[in-house]
Amino acid sequence: MDKLVINGGVKLVGEVEVSRAKNAYLPILAGVLLSDQKIELVDVPNLRDIRTMWQLLNNLGVKTEVVGNITHVDASNVTSQEATYELVKTMRASIFVLGPLLSRFKRAKVSLPGGCAIGTRPIDLHLKNLEKMGAKIVMQNGYVEASCEQLIGTKLVLDFPSVGATENLLMAGVFAKGETIISNAALEPEIDDLAHFLQSMGVQIEGIGTKTLKVTGLEKLKPTRYRAIGDRIEAGTYVMAGLITGGDVKVTGFNPAHLANVTDKLREMGATIHELPDGLHAIANGELKGIDATTEPFPGFPTDLQAQMMALMTQASGTSVMTENIFENRFMHVPELVRLGASIKLKGNSAIVKGPSKFAGAPVMCTDLRASAALVLAALASSGTTDVLRVYHLDRGYEKLDEKLMALGARIERARENEMI
Ligand code: UD1
Repeated sequence: MDKLVINGGVKLVGEVEVSRAKNAYLPILAGVLLSDQKIELVDVPNLRDIRTMWQLLNNLGVKTEVVGNITHVDASNVTSQEATYELVKTMRASIFVLGPLLSRFKRAKVSLPGGCAIGTRPIDLHLKNLEKMGAKIVMQNGYVEASCEQLIGTKLVLDFPSVGATENLLMAGVFAKGETIISNAALEPEIDDLAHFLQSMGVQIEGIGTKTLKVTGLEKLKPTRYRAIGDRIEAGTYVMAGLITGGDVKVTGFNPAHLANVTDKLREMGATIHELPDGLHAIANGELKGIDATTEPFPGFPTDLQAQMMALMTQASGTSVMTENIFENRFMHVPELVRLGASIKLKGNSAIVKGPSKFAGAPVMCTDLRASAALVLAALASSGTTDVLRVYHLDRGYEKLDEKLMALGARIERARENEMI
């Protein structure tokens, strides 16, 4: 297992380009199962979650070949419709294959994902609405077994704007008979991106970027070449990394409108943030001040930047309150930040952070993807050496995080955990 050894206290300065978004490419990769035509995907990031999705697709018979920055995909000969427990247990996003498989092959068997470190994460909204489209769903031996003669387009209303459910239902609608209308759809930019990918294959979708999506079922798709949007969560992480060190960084390769709420919050803290055509330029102006932030569905503050924002709050003067409204157990980073020297008290779904705290370095343990990013940020702000253990969580979602931070001046070494014990 790898760890990162971080010597903090260096102001990060320079420019970094983010990768294409993991959370855009995961549903797009599942979406290739819809098509028997050639698909070319550009700049797919090399991340653990993405590799898991490729493996799942390969197991189902999808052929892939990477040439330069293009992944050539051929899903014309899908031989299985079953996503087994071995892969699903390592990545919840495997559930995305349910909608496309059911839509194209009229059957799918997908292992139930179960909970994960940040909460129970049910999939009831996915299943209930597929049933409304005419799917017969049986839960058996830890698997969801879904079948239909053909999915039928209908009016669906999500009780909560779930990102994954919106994406699964959008893909289910592709070969459904007639129109599938999804109301109270989630608004995250990754959903627009999936819709644009489907459109590039000939699917008619109305209402992109709104809470009501209408997809018109069709019979045949066309070939496509597609490049997903830049990763707004990776971008937000680097912006905050710059600020937590009192630095000056330009983060490019993404649409700054996708981080508008985060930008507002950082300005409220006292940072100077300039919008660039394809990114943000963030400059810390001395000490930041504490603020309150609450995670909400897009366009609200993203839960995937909550942990990193909390790390930043530990270095701001005064009291900050971070409230988590999306996942019930997303404060796993709190005890680790406290071990580094942070003053954080939990009250229900809020964390009360008193800053600024001086960090002197300590071994800390990654527990999930974004919590790990928060620990890296805290380590960068520390005056000592911090060993960030179990970085495989980070490798799930950040491409070359250590290299990109080092290019901004960070002192980071990747080592084997057991070599140092
Ligand atoms: C996606 C993102 C994840 C992000 C999250 C919220 C991907 C691969 N993952 O996850 O990084 O943190 O959006 O922005 O894109 N819920 C139900 N029933 C359901 C579905 C969801 O109760 O059927 C609940 C969940 O438990 C959670 C909330 O709805 O409390 C939001 O979940 P959802 O928007 O579905 O997140 P994901 O798609 O799993």
